[in-house]
Amino acid sequence: MPHTSCHPMLLAAALLLVGPVGAQTPDAFKDASPSQGHKLMSERQCDACHAQKWGNDGKDIYRPGTHIHNVNELRKRVTQCNTGLNLNLFPEEETDIAAWLNESYYHFKN
Ligand code: HEC
Repeated sequence: MPHTSCHPMLLAAALLLVGPVGAQTPDAFKDASPSQGHKLMSERQCDACHAQKWGNDGKDIYRPGTHIHNVNELRKRVTQCNTGLNLNLFPEEETDIAAWLNESYYHFKN
């Protein structure tokens, strides 16, 4: 059997790293799938539209603290873009997208 090193200190360090990150997931996004949200955003070309006015491939539109100050407002904004533009997303999909945006750009804790 090959010997794989699993030093207890390394294990403890890894757990310390994972702990706080996991704990930062806001309650609203506990059951969401950010990776699914990312996929949906590419499919619906959200960034393609934003890129017509905003730089960095449209990603400069995501400005925490300007119009959006917390998880609730972020979640609502995704619904607004969806409803206004008839992108036909299910509510769970909107939550997945909001979770992805929060993880990648907004970093709200609640
Ligand atoms: C047809 C164009 C268009 C499409 C498609 C679109 N949006 Fe938007 N989006 C806008 C405009 C316009 C704004 C308002 C920008 C402003 O004036 O602050 C906006 C703003 C936003 C904001 C707020 C950014 C901030 O921090 O203030 C989010 C989040 C957002 N859109 C998400 C999405 C998502 C997710 C999708 C795809 C499911 C999407 N949008 C599709 C045009 C679009």
